[in-house]
Amino acid sequence: MAARAAIALVRGVPLALGMMITNRCNLRCAYCSIPDDPGEEMSTLEVFETLGQFARLGTVRLGLSGGEPLVREDLPAIVRYARDSGMYVTINTNASLLAERAEELDGVDLIVVSINGTQSVHDELRGEGSFDAAMEGIEAAKKRGLKVVTLAVLSRKNLHSLQEMFELIRRMGLKMYVHPITECEISGELGPELLPDVDEFRAAVRDMIERRDDLPLASSTPYLQHMLNYPDYSSWRGCKAGRGFVYMTPDGCIAPCHVVMPAGLPSVLTLGAKNAMAKLPKVSCDGCCIVPMVELSLIISGHWQAVKQAFRVSG
Ligand SMILES: C[S@@+](CC[C@H](N)C(=O)[O-])C[C@H]1O[C@@H](n2cnc3c(N)ncnc32)[C@H](O)[C@@H]1O
Ligand code: SF4
Ligand code: SF4
Repeated sequence: MAARAAIALVRGVPLALGMMITNRCNLRCAYCSIPDDPGEEMSTLEVFETLGQFARLGTVRLGLSGGEPLVREDLPAIVRYARDSGMYVTINTNASLLAERAEELDGVDLIVVSINGTQSVHDELRGEGSFDAAMEGIEAAKKRGLKVVTLAVLSRKNLHSLQEMFELIRRMGLKMYVHPITECEISGELGPELLPDVDEFRAAVRDMIERRDDLPLASSTPYLQHMLNYPDYSSWRGCKAGRGFVYMTPDGCIAPCHVVMPAGLPSVLTLGAKNAMAKLPKVSCDGCCIVPMVELSLIISGHWQAVKQAFRVSG
């Protein structure tokens, strides 16, 4: 895998493909508007074709997300196809359907479950009953022998209970990624009840950096240092969007990342992966601190702490 990754980088092939395989979702979180516009979705064969093209180019990592990937009946087939193509496969999920589907997901390398707080906060943000469903899903996945890590979106709602969240995650024997709630195209407008106070947010991040050895924290130290710039990430120059990784929409178009999505994106279905890559729009953004994209950029840049700490999560 490491040799294939190095070859891909030298050839200018993205190491990682983030695939939003659906915009549909069974939940409605307070800060996400993705399910409002389900749009077109590729068939199973089209998903095989598009991800297969990236695998043949040399892409080694596939991140399946959405919407909620577990609402797609063909998710296990997609996972198998990607694994057979030699890819390392992760799924980002709300886990509410994981208890009933965990046994179909053998072969997934890492399941990233969104947990946004202790029960009351999580349910307030993600809907009544979503916390218990996610907990059952995580237990089912662990029982099946699947590797699980959690991801928390930090907002005004949960910043004050971060320590309780770490205790919960520790009791479950897991680790937790963190990232700031972000106002962007997929969020719609976010109100002051969700956006954290800047000083409180930075103090919480500084505390995580200082105590990282005592916390079940998955986020890397350089990621946390980057997060300290909240809320202005415009000075970041390390982003590898469009080169180190690309994102695919449910209808088979590619974008540099899942925030930079101007109209008229190139379609892998009609152009093929190589030609679509050549037509990727140039990145124009105000920076960000979104977990997979920043951690991947740090890893691709060879930041040793990000590489070492990622190994501890996935290894
Ligand atoms: C869009 S969801 C898709 C996967 C799955 N439905 C889930 O919730 O985990 C991927 C991740 O983006 C996060 N997310 C969604 N909207 C966000 C926002 N406005 N700011 C920061 N993170 C956000 C979710 O909490 C989740 O961890
Ligand atoms: S964050 Fe995930 S679970 Fe929540 S509405 Fe968006 S896609 Fe659905
Ligand atoms: S939004 Fe983030 S990941 Fe996307 S191009 Fe800008 S800095 Fe890179």
